[in-house]
Amino acid sequence: MTTSLNKVEGEFTQRPGGESEADSRLNAFAKERYASGGFGSQWNYHSTVFLKRQVLSRLLYQDMLYKKILDVPGVICEFGVHWGATISQLINLRGMYEPFNHSRTIFGFDTFEGFPGVDAKDGGFSESGDYSTSKGYETQLDELLTLHESFSPVSHIKKFELIKGDVNNTLPVWTKANPHAIISMAIFDMDIYAPTKFALETILPRLTKGSLLVFDELNCRHFPGETTAVMEVLGLNKLRLQRYAHQPYCAFAVYEG
Ligand SMILES: C[S@@+](CC[C@H](N)C(=O)[O-])C[C@H]1O[C@@H](n2cnc3c(N)ncnc32)[C@H](O)[C@@H]1O
Repeated sequence: MTTSLNKVEGEFTQRPGGESEADSRLNAFAKERYASGGFGSQWNYHSTVFLKRQVLSRLLYQDMLYKKILDVPGVICEFGVHWGATISQLINLRGMYEPFNHSRTIFGFDTFEGFPGVDAKDGGFSESGDYSTSKGYETQLDELLTLHESFSPVSHIKKFELIKGDVNNTLPVWTKANPHAIISMAIFDMDIYAPTKFALETILPRLTKGSLLVFDELNCRHFPGETTAVMEVLGLNKLRLQRYAHQPYCAFAVYEG
């Protein structure tokens, strides 16, 4: 079977050659623009000229997910933060849809050093260290997320937390430190088997009927570990999995107990 599967700088991509060229050109364009003064005082508004259709699709997906938890109490946990593309938008969506819900804390779990290890059930594509960030990035991201939070009401209450480390170690500590926490939405985006299975098992008692379970790599040939983890912990036939038209590997389900 032929696939256009590729890994570039530790990240999975299925971009065809022609699109890679266009992508590089767009990147060069962005660098040139910022190097020569950017866009003036409305730089952030104008910066969307560089936003690709694929990223717009992802933002619309996140918007759709967020709207599903508005009447569900609890915090949001994102397992697998990477550079923060999703958690930053979750903070913005919270500011748009429920600016005064200061109990909707958003927790982001990541090693910030990439995959700590892989299992045979991950199928041989992934390697330790894939999806790493630059050293100390979590400190920069914390500052960045604080800025995003500052653009919405009630910003004097910090409503997000980054938890650095392997979830196998950090999640048990988190559950002990947060005995009050109900999880309204859990986003599983660690891609690989062992931590996904462990996180799923650990958070199950914190779900309520109506909590949203979100999986970023289900039914994905290159990351079989995520499907396996869901099968082993919940059972695929116990979930009404749904998909979004513009996200090939993403699936979500309302937890029904
Ligand atoms: C695909 S990236 C996450 C992408 C991110 N959700 C986004 O929307 O941009 C996968 C992340 O999972 C993290 N990860 C994998 N295994 C982990 C583990 N055992 N503990 C904590 N983080 C882990 C990696 O460090 C990596 O940053």
